[in-house]
Parts: sequence; structure tokens; C-alpha cells
Amino acid sequence: MTITQRRELLRGLLAAGVLPWLPALARAAAPKDDWQAEFEAAQVPWKSGFATPRADLPPVRASVRGRFPDAVAGTLLRNGPAGHDLGGERYHHWFDGDGMVQRFTIAGREVLHEGRYVATPKRVAELRAGRRLAEAFGTLPPGAEPPPSPDSINVANTSLLRLAGELLALWEGGSAVRLDARTLDTLGFKTWRPDLAGMPFSAHPRVDPDGTVWNFGIGSGQGLLALYEIAPDGALRRADAILVPDLPMIHDFAVTARHLVFLMPPLVYDAKRKEAGASFLDAHVWRPELGMRVLVVEKKDWTRRRMLALPAGFLFHVGNAWEEETPAGTRIHVDYVRSDTADTVFTTSRELMRARWVQRPVPQLTTVRLDLGTGRATQAALPVDAEFPRIDPRRTGLRHRHVIHASRSLPGRPGFSAIARTDVETGRSQQHGYGAQAIVEEHVFVPDGTGPGWVLGTALDFGRQKTLLSCFAADALGAGPVAQATLPYALPLGLHGVFAAA
Ligand SMILES: [Fe+2]
Repeated sequence: MTITQRRELLRGLLAAGVLPWLPALARAAAPKDDWQAEFEAAQVPWKSGFATPRADLPPVRASVRGRFPDAVAGTLLRNGPAGHDLGGERYHHWFDGDGMVQRFTIAGREVLHEGRYVATPKRVAELRAGRRLAEAFGTLPPGAEPPPSPDSINVANTSLLRLAGELLALWEGGSAVRLDARTLDTLGFKTWRPDLAGMPFSAHPRVDPDGTVWNFGIGSGQGLLALYEIAPDGALRRADAILVPDLPMIHDFAVTARHLVFLMPPLVYDAKRKEAGASFLDAHVWRPELGMRVLVVEKKDWTRRRMLALPAGFLFHVGNAWEEETPAGTRIHVDYVRSDTADTVFTTSRELMRARWVQRPVPQLTTVRLDLGTGRATQAALPVDAEFPRIDPRRTGLRHRHVIHASRSLPGRPGFSAIARTDVETGRSQQHGYGAQAIVEEHVFVPDGTGPGWVLGTALDFGRQKTLLSCFAADALGAGPVAQATLPYALPLGLHGVFAAA
């Protein structure tokens, strides 16, 4: 492909937007629904995890048991959907809500918490109107206008990236949003290069040990996969878009020393469904006959690509990948969290919004071997259920042993009840159970020199209606937290975060 052709693709991605326009007629007639009333009437104690804070949460001191180690002195910043309802209307999907950044400032026996909504143009306009104006990932509010651009419906609700002094709130359908790292004020959309304004930038960038940032973005309507390489100083080195037939929903990816690795579940966008009035999510079709395709792209030359195949399955998250040379060629190892189907995104994460629990296929930590020499791909499930996998950030793209992840889902209630550290080579897992009245959120690994490091993360204790921040010795999860902060309230359940040392 020539440079001119690639420029054309990039222009195509920008001109058409990620979410194609929808005929306004299809939505004008939609009646108000009773999801808000159902949520309010529900008696389940865990529903506070999906409640909407009415405003920003001013700084509050948590009560702390134990002492947080010096290595975790700093800030844990987390992001997640929090603005789920407005004007008596409730979103129909957990991933729709306006993003709220939770900041935990940690210093020994003191923890301060505050929460700030990301003031995206969508949120600002809808608060002013007192109702939803635009569509979201899984919801088409009555009378919503077609979005003029992806960023007009950007909710910045998925993750965060700290890069060269900037703090970015990430979504996946549009731009990153710049925040003031000190005040958490919203500054505006991040433009990596003027001609890339508004390009989708996923919520799961990968940072090499040398600080190079790799990311991607999905242009569903155009079948285009955007790729980014960003220098440690925040300057864009390269961006391009490649055409991928039957491009599916891709939420996360992995890097090795020399490759970018995309596990592609067979959840494929169908423009005709969108035109017929479906939400962005419901425009996707589960096509298991495609299998789980694995796209491997050379970091140095994005025109050098391989496609391998695994049995059909669904994923949100990848733990890590690394590569080694064998007599038969390069072998890539990947671990990820695999489900048999996409029911979690279609049904479970939707019904949560009216406080109903629908059992989903339990996701398993799964290891993959990709032999580039023979084109063979194989996988094996480890005997542990999992979500929100994280590794020692110093091992990104390199051989690792341990994955930190939520685990132990329980029947009849959402989420996971334990935090685990699993050895992906032996399958052995050590865990700390928070109990049946808690929902574990993502925990991150915090390095501490050459020591075993720390595991830091939050959980919703819905028995007490409080959010907890806990720190564990990474090699002794079973011993329980070395320190735990308890907030005087329950926060909405979030997605991903980053830790920055003081
Ligand atoms: Fe994610």
C-alpha cells in the first residue's frame, strides 16, 4: 500500500466517523422506558455499584487500618462509567455512563479520596439540557440526534494514561481527553497530530519498558484499524490505518518485543443494523464461524502482518504477551481472559443497569501459543476465573510469570469476590477473598525495586455500602491486606486505573 493510499484510509476514517449516522426518524418515536423506576425499586444491595453520583465528590479522608508501604505513596487514579441516569432516563448499558475519575492520594496512614466527572462536551451539553441528547454505546435515548462526530458522544469513561506530564482520560471510540493532573479539570480533546483530530484511540495503550506507547483504534464503519506509536516524550512517531476484513470489536491488545498482537473475537459490526436503528453495540453480530482470529503486526513495519486462528471466543482483556525464538521460528505467548460467548456485553452488562443479575459465561484466564513459523495457534484455559488482568509494568512485552486479576465469581450476584495472583506457567494461584458481600475492582501491580512489589486496588463492600482501597504484598496475597482504607461511602464500580508514585 502506498503512502497516498494510507493517507486516503486515514481520511476515510475521519470523514465518516466511527459511529455512522443514524436516521433521526428511527429514534424520534421511541417512548420513555421504566429502567430508572426499576433500578430505584430494586432491593439488591449491590446496586450502589451502578448508582449515579449527582455531582463531583469533594476530597474526603478515609479511615485507614495499617500503613501503606512507601512504594505505594502517590496517587491511584481510576476511571469508570458513573453518570448512568439523567432527567429520569437511565442508560441501558454499564459502558454508556459519563466517566468519573476517582483519585486516591496515599501517604502512609493517610488516604484522601475525591471524584471528578470528566466534563466532556456531551456531558456538558446534556447537563445543560437536563436530558440525554446523544446516543451511547448500548443505548439510543428517545429523540437523540445523530452524532456529528465520534467525539460528540465521547464519554471518556474507561481508563487513564499518564504520559510526559499529561493525564489523559480514555474511551475507545474517539479521542483521549486531557485532564489537569493537579485539579482534574477537563482541558479538552487530545490531538496527536492536526490531521488525526477525532481518531479513535483505545483505552488500552501498552507502554514498552523504554516508555514507547503503542495503541490502536477501531473504525467500525470503515473496517479500519488505526495504529499509533508515541515516543516517551509524548510526541507521535507514527500513525496509520490498515484495512481488516470483518473487523470486530477489539477492546485490548498486547505487544511483544517486536510485534503487536490483536485477538479478534467474532463480534463483527454490521452497518445495515446500524442504519436500521440499532445501538452501536446491537449493530454487532456474533459470527462464530470466523473463529478468534489473531492478527500479528510487526512493530517496525506495519505492512508485515500475519493472521492466525483460534476457536471462537470472546474477550475484553489481555494480560501480556512475549516472544521467543525456536528452531521452527518465532513463538509468541499471550495470556488473556476468555469467555465462550459475548453474552456478558450483550446481556449481563446491560441488565445490571436495572439492577438485575443475569448469569454470564465465566471468563477463564487462558494462555495462547502462536507459532509464526508454522502458522499454528493453540490455547489452554487455566483453572481460574478472571477479569481485569494486570502485570508488573516493567515486564510489558517481556516474559512474565504472574498476572494479578479479579477472581472467584459467585452465583446470583455480579462481579468477582477475590483478588488473585496467578502463575501463568504453572496455573497456581494465590488469592485473597473479600467475602460474598464485596465486588473486586481492578488491582494494579506497584513495583518496589527488586522486591516482590505490591498489589493495590479497590473493592465495593456492598454489605457496608463502602468502597475499600487495599494494599497487599504481591507474594503474600493470602495473608490479607497490609493496609486498607475505608471510604465513608460506596463509589460506582469503575473499570481501569493507573498508579503514579509521589
Ligand atoms: Fe478494559
